[in-house]
Amino acid sequence: MTEINWENLIETELVQIAEKLKRDKNCFIIAHNYQKMEVQQIADFVGDSLQMAKVAAQTDADMILVCGIKIMAETAKILNPGKKVLMAHPTADCQLANMQTPADLLKLKTEYPDAEVVCYVNSPATLKAESTITCTSSNAVDLVNKLPANKPIIFVPDRNIGTWVQHQTGRELIMFDSFCYVHDQISLAEVKKIRLKYPEHKLLVHPECRLDVCLEADLVCSTSQMIDFTKANDKVIIGTEYGLYEQMKYHFPKKDIVALSPRMICEDMKKTTLMGAVKALANDLNEVIVDDLIMQKSNYSLNRMLEIV
Ligand code: 13P
Repeated sequence: MTEINWENLIETELVQIAEKLKRDKNCFIIAHNYQKMEVQQIADFVGDSLQMAKVAAQTDADMILVCGIKIMAETAKILNPGKKVLMAHPTADCQLANMQTPADLLKLKTEYPDAEVVCYVNSPATLKAESTITCTSSNAVDLVNKLPANKPIIFVPDRNIGTWVQHQTGRELIMFDSFCYVHDQISLAEVKKIRLKYPEHKLLVHPECRLDVCLEADLVCSTSQMIDFTKANDKVIIGTEYGLYEQMKYHFPKKDIVALSPRMICEDMKKTTLMGAVKALANDLNEVIVDDLIMQKSNYSLNRMLEIV
């Protein structure tokens, strides 16, 4: 491809460049549901964490560009190690993932040596490597239900999903104290207020919200499960990162869709821009490298999830 002059390019030109680069480089672009709409339009697949992991594992493209956060790009690399995996933004990370360390987990494992260690996917590869199985928001409850009844379960890093899973399964979980600031900030009082304002709307919340908020909802589920629900329902309140609300307003303009809170913005998810993603693709920027041993150990944890649920 000839040298690109990036200055003054308009959106349609960037999209055209992205389409040509995808063909020339045999690159598959995946984007999370929280990504800006300008970014989603160049993606070959847009979905939730589990769907992204599955399509990344299956693609036969030479290269995968991940528009999302670091944990998603690492997951793609671990599940399809032969591919070159690029991040659309070099520092888009996850605060929740990094609140506690693999050393904190090793301490818990010493206390409970027989435990199954369930690691929520919003975690670094180094934490997944110390776990026995990974989960996502869409399969955490089913997955924990399938674990042997006689084993203790350590659940890291998100204490809110852990508490929701504990409530739904009746299994006692040993947890970290980490949380997602985007979801954890939502209070029950705020939820009750919006319920009063929109009494006919169904309230959908992500399990990264606190338990009292989850218990007030009509459905607790992943971002793609929220989209599926909205296809069949006309009035919904979306209780997760604001990007999903924007996507839904775009795809379902005739439905009455309300955001639970405009404060639910993930700064890292918003770092990726269309220009940044196309530049990363053009110049092979931000390649994800995972240490061999970490790759091997976290591959076991991720594949066990894909086999069980
Ligand atoms: P999903 O499992 O719906 O992709 O949620 C991921 C996430 O980061 C929630 O904050």
